[in-house]
Amino acid sequence: MSKEPLQLAIIGCGGMAQGHLRGYQQVHEKEPDRFRLVAMCDPVRERAEEFAARTEVWQGTRPRVYTEVEALLQAEDLDGADIVTPHHLHHLVGVACLEAGVNVLIEKPIGVTVKATQAIIEAARRRGKIAATAENIRRGPCQRAAHWGLNTAQFIGEPRLFFAQHAGYHLPDPEHPWHWRVDKFFGGGGLVLDSGAHFCDTIRYLYGEVDTVYAQVTQWEEHPHLKEGRVVPDAREDTWVATLTFESGLVGVWSWTGVARAHSFTNLVTYGSKGALVDYGDVFHGPFGKAEWKLADGTVKPMREVIDEFLGSLSEEERQRLFPYGFTDGVVLEVYDFIDALATERPPEIDAEEGLKAKAIGEAIYESAYCGQAVKVADVISGQVEGYQREINERWGL
Ligand SMILES: NC(=O)c1ccc[n+]([C@@H]2O[C@H](COP(=O)([O-])OP(=O)(O)OC[C@H]3O[C@@H](n4cnc5c(N)ncnc54)[C@H](O)[C@@H]3O)[C@@H](O)[C@H]2O)c1
Repeated sequence: MSKEPLQLAIIGCGGMAQGHLRGYQQVHEKEPDRFRLVAMCDPVRERAEEFAARTEVWQGTRPRVYTEVEALLQAEDLDGADIVTPHHLHHLVGVACLEAGVNVLIEKPIGVTVKATQAIIEAARRRGKIAATAENIRRGPCQRAAHWGLNTAQFIGEPRLFFAQHAGYHLPDPEHPWHWRVDKFFGGGGLVLDSGAHFCDTIRYLYGEVDTVYAQVTQWEEHPHLKEGRVVPDAREDTWVATLTFESGLVGVWSWTGVARAHSFTNLVTYGSKGALVDYGDVFHGPFGKAEWKLADGTVKPMREVIDEFLGSLSEEERQRLFPYGFTDGVVLEVYDFIDALATERPPEIDAEEGLKAKAIGEAIYESAYCGQAVKVADVISGQVEGYQREINERWGL
């Protein structure tokens, strides 16, 4: 067993890290002696200071503040680091931590490319440390219940087909300030990889491995951003249509556009041999609580009912593993999973290899569009197909 309390740090104290910090606070309320947040690191010192001050209120001790990862790793004897930085830093910071003997929890979409993710996986193997992917969506009660309803209760029989489609008009205003996300080298891609990382993880979780992808990815409009007084274009796609063929034979169509004028629609449905799972959310984070299971005999089961059935089916051990202390928020659960994995020396639910398999689906979409052909996800993982990612890999020395 590792020493407790575990010594933890948050690296990157921006938007999403706020959710992580709330997660640590909730875990601390239940298990006050299991960990200490001993350090916060962000090049913007005020952000790290603010995180430290907020932590002191509930932890009683104030984390030390760093503006550079190297200084953090030199000064602290950490058990784990929670990396919530821009995508291009995930592998740079992740590998530095692992090489220093520190376990890591890294935000989705794990590495900025497949190679970047493999560098994280290799460093974790080399040092015998945990590299976990911070993926919160599949941990929610709806996703857990959907997994149970599809695979155990088999309400809709054999899943055959899904459509996850959205068309809307979502243009940033031209005065929108530049952000690392709009740059291909920093972000690695647009919504396919960003919010799309959640969807790619969820479809693997619900339907199994994706075998082949054929996709078109387009940027119809420029979406300018303001950077230091200059107008710079947004490098991200505003449209994609992807056909995904799973090893099970299931076929899915995943499409999104933010430049659909005059008419919007969202269509989210999985068809099986005995019915359909119809969702009323978005194409990234579902299924949602409003979803319905429509069966061929006319029965309609609201998702809320299915969640109750699913929860009722769990043994005490399963309930404690999936929803410890009754937590249902995916971010709290991912943080808890990381802490518990470190403390009990077990693998986390979604390690970096799992993160890579989800990430490779998004990369396969870009790669297919780049080469104009269907691509196998396995060839994207092996590096045989790398055209879209090559310049990002070169930029980061991968
Ligand atoms: N799970 C989710 O629902 C969800 C939602 C939003 C973002 N995210 C993910 O969280 C990560 C961060 O996104 P964000 O929206 O918080 O971005 P952000 O820009 O708000 O925050 C990033 C932070 O990292 C800091 N940073 C930059 N360089 C650093 C370095 N060298 N060392 C330490 N810190 C550094 C920045 O100063 C900033 O404070 C991304 O991987 C993103 O995809 C996940």
